[in-house]
Amino acid sequence: MSTADDAPVSFYDQVGGHEMFQRLVDAFYREVAKDPVLAAMYPEEDLGPAADRLRMFLEQYWGGPTTYGEQRGHPRLRMRHVPFHVDPDARDRWLRCMRIAVDEARLSPIHEATLWDYLERAAHAMVNTFEPRGIGPDAGGRPIL
Ligand code: HEM
Repeated sequence: MSTADDAPVSFYDQVGGHEMFQRLVDAFYREVAKDPVLAAMYPEEDLGPAADRLRMFLEQYWGGPTTYGEQRGHPRLRMRHVPFHVDPDARDRWLRCMRIAVDEARLSPIHEATLWDYLERAAHAMVNTFEPRGIGPDAGGRPIL
């Protein structure tokens, strides 16, 4: 498949572009808001700005507009998550919320598998502690002895 100017059609366009990613993050953050562990991690009470950042990042990653980079610079996602206590429990909660959002997006099986494979791998890569809460990166500067 190609466009009139022969550029390959991006995954972003194939799955429905901005409208699909907006629905995906809306559903995801609706679930995050209901999860006590995840909800407590977000610095802002209003999850709207965080939803915008995740949407812009995903849109850019999948070949859509590069607004994320223009506004936020290089993603450096692992570095940006260092202040948060991303242990396996948080990762599994994040993935549970995302699973619901991906299911609601009703993508074709191949698009769904491609997106899910990426999200699962990215979530595993984001884990930055195996310590109990209060000892890991969110310890607020308390020295780890
Ligand atoms: C594994 C569990 C994860 C947890 C608990 C988590 C949690 C968080 C938190 C608390 C923030 C700060 C909210 C904000 O102000 O933006 C954040 C930001 C962000 N997260 Fe995650 N996250 C996880 C995984 C992921 C994954 C897998 C991705 C990408 C596929 C991702 C992409 C982002 C992006 C793009 C931002 C905004 C970065 C920026 O400041 O520009 N996160 N995440």
